[in-house]
Amino acid sequence: MKSSSKVYLNQQFLPKEKAFISPEDRGFYFADGVYEVIKYYKGYPFCFDAHMTRLRNSLAGVRISFNRFDELADICDRLIEENRLISEYAGVYIQVTRGVAARTHSFPSNDVTPTLYIRAFPMPTFLSEMRNGVRVISRDDIRWLRCNIKSIALLPNTLIFQEAMEAGAFECLLIRDGKFTEATHSNIMMVRNGMVFTHPDSNLILPGITRTKVIKLCSALSVGVIEKPVKADDINSIEECFITGTGSEIIPVVMVDNTVIGNGKPGPVTRMIQKAFFKITYEELAGEKITVNND
Ligand code: PDD
Repeated sequence: MKSSSKVYLNQQFLPKEKAFISPEDRGFYFADGVYEVIKYYKGYPFCFDAHMTRLRNSLAGVRISFNRFDELADICDRLIEENRLISEYAGVYIQVTRGVAARTHSFPSNDVTPTLYIRAFPMPTFLSEMRNGVRVISRDDIRWLRCNIKSIALLPNTLIFQEAMEAGAFECLLIRDGKFTEATHSNIMMVRNGMVFTHPDSNLILPGITRTKVIKLCSALSVGVIEKPVKADDINSIEECFITGTGSEIIPVVMVDNTVIGNGKPGPVTRMIQKAFFKITYEELAGEKITVNND
C-alpha cells in the first residue's frame, strides 16, 4: 500500500489527510501570506539561501513577523526524506500566512502566530519541452503593482494560465504598458543581437532565483545581459526566447501567439545557457548528465 505523504503544519509532521487549517486563517480569508518553491536535485536544494532571502523579503513586504528561519532547512530535508524523495527530483513548497484570527481587515494582535505549512512533492523534469521548445500566448498583465512579493494571492496568474492551457500553450507572457514583464509562473528572457534582454528587477516582476542564476551564468559565458524590457511590438525582431523558473528551469519558447521565434527551434544562446545551467544543477548536485541538444 502506498503510504500517504507527510507534510509539516505549524509544529508538527503529519500525514497530509490529517493536516487541517482553520477557516479563520488569514490565508483563507485574504490570501494574506507568502510562499516559496525550492527544487531538490536528488536531495540537494538549489539556491536554498537565495530562496530564504526572498522569503524574508516577501514577509517584510507584507509585514508578517516570522522568526522560524533557522528551522526551515531541517524541516525541508526531513520532508524530502520521509516522502522518499531523496533520490528524486522534487519540490518543496513553503507557505507562511499571517495566522488565524477573526476576520477584520486590520492586522490581528501580535500574539497571533503565523501559520507555517511545508510539503514536498515529485517535480519531474520537462525534458521534451526543454529539448524542443514550447509555444506560449501573451496577455495583459492584470496583476497588482507589487509582483516582487511572492504572495499567495495568485488569482490573476491562475486565470491567465488557464487561458494558456485552454489555448494548448505552455505558458503565458504578460504585457504591461506595451512591454513584456514576466510570465504567470516564470521569468522571460529574450535574445536580440546575441544579447539577453530581461525585465529589470522591479516591483513589476518576481526576482526569480533561476533568472538571477542565468544572469550570472551569462556573465561567465561572456553573453551580454541587458536588463531592459522588450516591447511587445518588437517580438518580430527577437532571435530567441526562453522562460526561467524553479519548475521550468530553462525552457525555450519557439512561438509567441502567432509569431515564430527565430527559425522555430531553440537557438544557440539558449542552448549554451541550458547547458551551463544543467551543469550546476543536474550534474553538480545530482550527478546526472542531461542533454537537450537533439538537433
Ligand atoms: N513560480 N515569476 C513568477 C510570477 C513566478 O511565480 C515564478 C516562480 C517565477 C520564477 O521564479 P524562480 O526562478 O525563483 O522559481 C517568476 C513558482 C515556481 C510557483 O509559483 O510555483
